[in-house]
Amino acid sequence: MDHTEPFAFNPFDPDVRYDPFPLYARARREHPVYVHEGLPLVSVFRYDDIQTILKDPTTWSNFFPPPPGVELRADLPPSMLLQDPPEHTRLRGLVNQAFTPRMIRRLEPRMEEIANELLDAALAARRVDLVEALTYPLPVIVIAEMIGVPMEQRDQFKEWSDGLVENLGLGLLAPEPPEVIARELQLIDEMRAYFTQLVAERRAQPRDDLLSGLVAAELEGSRLSFDEMLQMLILLLVAGNETTTNLIGNAAVALMEHPDQLARLRAQPELMPTAIDEVLRFSSPVQVDARHSKCRAEVAGQTIEAGTNVLLVLGSANRDATVFDDADAFDVGRVDNRHLAFGFGPHYCLGANLARLEAQVAIRVLLQRTRRMQRTGDERLPLHPSFIFRGFTRIPVELEA
Ligand code: HEM
Repeated sequence: MDHTEPFAFNPFDPDVRYDPFPLYARARREHPVYVHEGLPLVSVFRYDDIQTILKDPTTWSNFFPPPPGVELRADLPPSMLLQDPPEHTRLRGLVNQAFTPRMIRRLEPRMEEIANELLDAALAARRVDLVEALTYPLPVIVIAEMIGVPMEQRDQFKEWSDGLVENLGLGLLAPEPPEVIARELQLIDEMRAYFTQLVAERRAQPRDDLLSGLVAAELEGSRLSFDEMLQMLILLLVAGNETTTNLIGNAAVALMEHPDQLARLRAQPELMPTAIDEVLRFSSPVQVDARHSKCRAEVAGQTIEAGTNVLLVLGSANRDATVFDDADAFDVGRVDNRHLAFGFGPHYCLGANLARLEAQVAIRVLLQRTRRMQRTGDERLPLHPSFIFRGFTRIPVELEA
């Protein structure tokens, strides 16, 4: 990295996105709060600053006011991800129970069964795209079964969730083009129509699934409105998909790029929990979180005006040498790993236990069932289209049983 060059952080630049870590290191040293030229936007890079912001929803809001002239649709209330306390607290309380460690542990045998079935097919083919073969289908099957939606629409789900996150974050940097907004609204309407029909089925015949739980809360009237319920279902389906797919893919890639750590994990499979948390830190699937300042505030000695969008670069916080020993090393046995990959504070990822377990099971089964796995081809892997995420849309590999 050339330190005589003026510093700039363009989160869209594909070269930066491919290996952002040297730039993050320079930012933490020289520009811990970087003002994007000409925009009411700053990026924050240090661990302590990001954690402080995530802890304080009074100053740093999850709600991003629409641009002037754009009306929010009354039937599309912001999901809990985009709400502050106390509304956020009410909505989150309705789903927390379904994601406790005890509830998630019950899903492990089923996850293992799905991973093994997917590996049967992948090993028969030998040369596969790991995303198509394993990292995409596993999370979507698991969350669909938890919510209680039939799996026949799996390809449809992928189209919906890919479409909804493709341009995530774009609006923070520039007004979104009208065709992008129109496409997103069309996808949301398709999902709402689909869930509306399922909700009617559960009202008639409740089952033991998340959908029936939400329907019960909605029927009580005071706890959840119908439109809020639909937004929650869309959030759950989308939030759990792309992120966990990226985590499992990033784990496979990091292990293939660090053969010593791969050999260590094969020899000591009991390291799987620390290994997956190390992937979360080292190659954070959500690279960038965001907040909106409600009042003037100070970060790292710099004033941030009210009404500023703030990018919190989690991928940088997780390489901060003031918190992590040998922060750029990939160490599957790392202890005391207080990464911020799932965020922090009131919006801490609802699905953290689920995502961790899915990734542990996927990589465990992948390593158990293969003697060797290696990338085919040496071209750059294609990156996820949104700068919010770090992950690859295709990972061609050869697997040897
Ligand atoms: C590796 C996988 C995952 C990563 C890296 C991840 C990351 C995150 C992060 C950083 C946040 C905080 C957003 C903020 O601060 O505003 C978050 C929130 C959330 N995540 Fe995840 N997530 C993952 C998997 C999942 C899964 C499997 C689900 C399952 C449903 C899920 C559901 C949610 C929801 C609903 C929220 C919003 C929580 C709230 O607003 O209170 N995530 N996630």
